[in-house]
Amino acid sequence: MPNLSHSLLVLATALAVLATWRFWPMVGYPFTALNVRASWRRVALGCGLTKKRARWAFTLTPGALVSTGTVKVRRRFRRIAVDTTPRIRLPLPNRHGWRVTVHLLEGQIPDDYAQVAERLAHSWGVHAVRVSSPRPGRVVLAAIIRDPLMRVDRLPPSEELLKVTVGRLETGAPWVIDFRTVPHWLSAGATQSGKSNLANALIVGLAPQPVALVGFDLKGGVEFTPYTPRLSALATTRTESVGLLDDLVTLMLNRMDLCRKAGARNIWQLPPAVRPVPVVVLVDELAELYLMADRSEKDEVAHTSTTLLRVARLGRAFGIYLFCCGQRIGSDLGPGVTALRAQCSGRICHRVNDPETATMTLGDLDPAALVSARAIPAETPGVAIVASQDGQWYRARSFHVSEAAAEHAAWMYADLTPSWAEITAHAPTTEFDPADLDELLTA
Ligand SMILES: Nc1ncnc2c1ncn2[C@@H]1O[C@H](COP(=O)(O)OP(=O)(O)OP(=O)(O)O)[C@@H](O)[C@H]1O
Ligand SMILES: [Mg+2]
Repeated sequence: MPNLSHSLLVLATALAVLATWRFWPMVGYPFTALNVRASWRRVALGCGLTKKRARWAFTLTPGALVSTGTVKVRRRFRRIAVDTTPRIRLPLPNRHGWRVTVHLLEGQIPDDYAQVAERLAHSWGVHAVRVSSPRPGRVVLAAIIRDPLMRVDRLPPSEELLKVTVGRLETGAPWVIDFRTVPHWLSAGATQSGKSNLANALIVGLAPQPVALVGFDLKGGVEFTPYTPRLSALATTRTESVGLLDDLVTLMLNRMDLCRKAGARNIWQLPPAVRPVPVVVLVDELAELYLMADRSEKDEVAHTSTTLLRVARLGRAFGIYLFCCGQRIGSDLGPGVTALRAQCSGRICHRVNDPETATMTLGDLDPAALVSARAIPAETPGVAIVASQDGQWYRARSFHVSEAAAEHAAWMYADLTPSWAEITAHAPTTEFDPADLDELLTA
C-alpha cells in the first residue's frame, strides 16, 4: 500500500509539472501574476527603480515625558520623503512566460530598466527579462521562464533569392540572413561555438538558389573542401586567397563597367537576361588573412586586406556579398580589420571567451547585448547575439546543420554551380581604369 500511495504521489507531481509546463497560462500564470503584483514594491525597491518623493503626512513623534514615566506621542503634519514605486499593470501570459507594462516615473527612461534586467530576472526567478518600450512613458518587461533556445525546431526554407532562414530568434520568429538587405556579415565566436554550423546552414540554404558560392577556408580547406561541388571557387591558403581576391575585384570592375554602360546603379537594375549571378563569399578563419609571421608577409597581408576591403565597400551594388567568420575579429589584427568591420552591418556574436571580442563584434550596441553575449553557455552551441541594420539586437540560435547535410546539399545542387571561368570570363574594358575604383572608394 505505501508503494501505491508513493507511486500516486509521484504521478500527481509529474502531472502537475507537466500541466504547469504545457498549460502554463492556465495553471502557473495566475499564481505568478498575483505574486508579481504583490512583490512589485519590494522588487522595484531592490532594483533601484523607485524614487524618493516629498509628501505631506501625519507622523508620530515622541513628545514630553509624562509623570507615569511613559513618553507622550504627538501627531505632527509635516513633509516626509517616501519611496514611490512605478505603477504596473496586470502581467499577461505568453508562450514563453509573461509580460507586464510599467508606467515610468518622472525622469526615468527605458534604459534604467534595461540596466537592471538581470536583477529583475533573479528577483522573479526567470531565465531572462527583456525590456522594450512600445510608447513614451511605458516599458514592457517580458519575463522568459525557460530559455526558448534550448531546442529550436526547424522552419521551412525561405523561397526568396539570397534569403536564408538559418535558425530562430528568442522571440520565436525566424532568424533570416538576407544578403540583399544586409550585404556583409561578421560572425565571431570561440572555438566550438557554432560558427561553422551557421556557415553550413547558409550553404544548405543557398545551394538550391541561382547564386555562386565562393569559399575562403584558411584552415587549410578542412571545412569547405567537402562542399567543392557547389563552390565556384575555393582558396585554402593565403597565396590562393590573394589570387581569388584579385579575381573578385576584377569581377567587380566588370560588373561596374556593365552597369555603367547600361545606365544602372547596381546589378538589380539590369534586365534579368544580362544580370550577372550574385556571388556569396564565405570566409572561415578571417584572422588568418591578416596574421603575419614575419615582415616578409607584410606586403601580402596589406594586399589581401585592401582587396577584401574593396570587395566589402563596393560589392553590394555589384552582387558580391561577404560572410566572414573568425574566433577573434579585433583591432589587434590591424587597421584593415577595423575598416572591414565598419563595412559589415550584420554582426553575429556566438559564445566568446573574452569580453573584447563581444565588444568588437557588437560594437557600441546596448550594453545588455554584451552581457547577454558573455552569458551564452558552452552547452548551447549555435546560440548567438545577432545585430543588423535595424539597430535592434536579438538572441538567436541556428538550426543544427551537420557537415554531412551541407555536403549532401552541395552534391545535390552541384549542377547549379557556375564555373569560376564562366563568372569571370568578361575582361575589363580598356575604357574602365582600376583607378576609377579608387576614385569611387574615396568619394
Ligand atoms: N545550432 C546548433 N545546435 C546544435 N548543435 C550545434 C549547433 N551549432 C553547433 N553545434 C555543434 O557544436 C559543435 C561545434 O560547432 P562548430 O564546429 O560550428 O563550431 P565552430 O565555432 O566552427 O568551432 P571552431 O572555431 O573550432 O571551428 C559541433 O559539434 C556542432 O554540431
Ligand atoms: Mg569552425
